Amino acid sequence: MGAEHARTVEIIPSASALLQSLRGLGYAPETALADLIDNSIAAGAARIDVDLDWNGGTPVVAILDDGRGLDFDGLSAAMRFGGDGPMAERTSDDLGRFGLGLKTASLSQCRRMTVASRKDGLTSCLAWDVDQVAAKGKWEALVPEALPATRLAEAFGSRAQGTLVVWEHMDAIGGLFGLDSEDFFARLQNIRAHFAMVFHRFLAGDARRIAIAINGRVVRGWDPFQRNHPATITMPTERLRSTAGVMDVSPFVLPHRDRFANEAEYEAAGGFGGWSERQGFYVYRGKRLVAAGGWLGLGGARAWTREESSRLARLSVDLPTHVDAEWRIDVRKSLARPPAVLRPRLTAIAAACRGKAREVFAWRGGKVRRQAAKLGQPVWTAEQISGRVQYRINRNHPALQRLFAAAGDNQNLLTAALVLIEKTVPIERIWLDVSETGDTRSTALSDTEISLLADQLASVVTGMSGDDPVEVRLDRMLQQLPVKTGALRRSVLRIIGTPDE
Ligand SMILES: Nc1ncnc2c1ncn2[C@@H]1O[C@H](COP(=O)(O)OP(=O)(O)OP(=O)(O)O)[C@@H](O)[C@H]1O
Ligand SMILES: [Mg+2]
Repeated sequence: MGAEHARTVEIIPSASALLQSLRGLGYAPETALADLIDNSIAAGAARIDVDLDWNGGTPVVAILDDGRGLDFDGLSAAMRFGGDGPMAERTSDDLGRFGLGLKTASLSQCRRMTVASRKDGLTSCLAWDVDQVAAKGKWEALVPEALPATRLAEAFGSRAQGTLVVWEHMDAIGGLFGLDSEDFFARLQNIRAHFAMVFHRFLAGDARRIAIAINGRVVRGWDPFQRNHPATITMPTERLRSTAGVMDVSPFVLPHRDRFANEAEYEAAGGFGGWSERQGFYVYRGKRLVAAGGWLGLGGARAWTREESSRLARLSVDLPTHVDAEWRIDVRKSLARPPAVLRPRLTAIAAACRGKAREVFAWRGGKVRRQAAKLGQPVWTAEQISGRVQYRINRNHPALQRLFAAAGDNQNLLTAALVLIEKTVPIERIWLDVSETGDTRSTALSDTEISLLADQLASVVTGMSGDDPVEVRLDRMLQQLPVKTGALRRSVLRIIGTPDE
């Protein structure tokens, strides 16, 4: 019996059970809201307002855009679960894919979602109410008489076109319910940071420019690649091809901590979740960020993890919207996996970027290192000896040379002490500490250290041979110290008797 002749029976899904399961797809409030913003962007909006009202722990959320609105038929289609699914033809700026986002994102956070839309001067309004569907056991949407009383509903009232979505009747399934006001405002900060990251290319005008405001305050974009920072290294963009199309990969190495003006700027560049978390690939789909960091399961025999030494490596991958299936973009648009054919190439590009990032991370500021060859002698050197790195104290450093000169008959004693220090550098310990807490070495010198060092440095620089002025020699030495050296420099110059400029 062929399948076309088989008897069939229609089995209709249980409305209330299916709706309950769809609520548990695992959206966080910020990813749910971002899904609605995708829709607004796809509808051509230029301004999107998001209002989150704490409302004593049972928040009400509203999102208003000024995009092409929907008429009643359009709105009915929009409210259908699985409306235009993954097989539908879509334009290249349509950020949607599954025909689910509006409904699943909203109902992940609340039990009633109302959508009002205006097109050609006509307003249409429909709502899904989880409790209503459960009570009736039918996929019946409500046709509300009036809009929920919110600030943005009022604003919507005076718009020529646009769409308003309101979330009400929150419960513990969503992430905004039952918080005290402090926790609620902390979540608002997360949402703001998430938007700043996910939509940064729209906010900065690299894609079609849009403005997003949360509770009336405009969100400023966060550039993962710090392209405006002079010390960011931009590696050449590579173009990859697969059956689905062409995509660009651009590797960046971000500046060493020392190159940021202050700690706050450094933290800000690290981004939402911090430096370690935010290393790796930034995958964009239609210029909207879908994966913010991570190594996509790439690597050698073992997949790369988020290592401390690669924290400055970030790569952008630009996907056109139609490569979704190939990259396995998930419903929440927060995951992406590269297809097998592209993996070797991506691994090679990322390995080069990680290598460079490791260099910048290990050497305090790339600039200091480049100048060291021309100018001062480093105190420590790293040598590759039969495949292993050895850290050695530089015997040619002026301070060491003086020490050897002063040691007289005790040359061997001194050399033995240096070898002992070199052989016992607590590498594992340092590595662990830096991995766990970052580089937290003090960058300030105490008064005692300054007076001790100043005397010695003064005699080292005055005793050095060569034609350079003492200040130049002093600065070469100071350059090697990864600390604030202003006070030390002034002390040394005072001792030598050369006034500070
Ligand atoms: N703010 C909006 N303005 C205009 N139309 C909208 C808006 N939000 C949703 N729509 C319409 O509703 C449809 C369904 O939206 P929904 O988010 O559920 O699915 P999608 O965007 O097609 O796919 P995905 O599930 O990947 O988000 C959209 O395709 C769009 O036509
Ligand atoms: Mg959508």
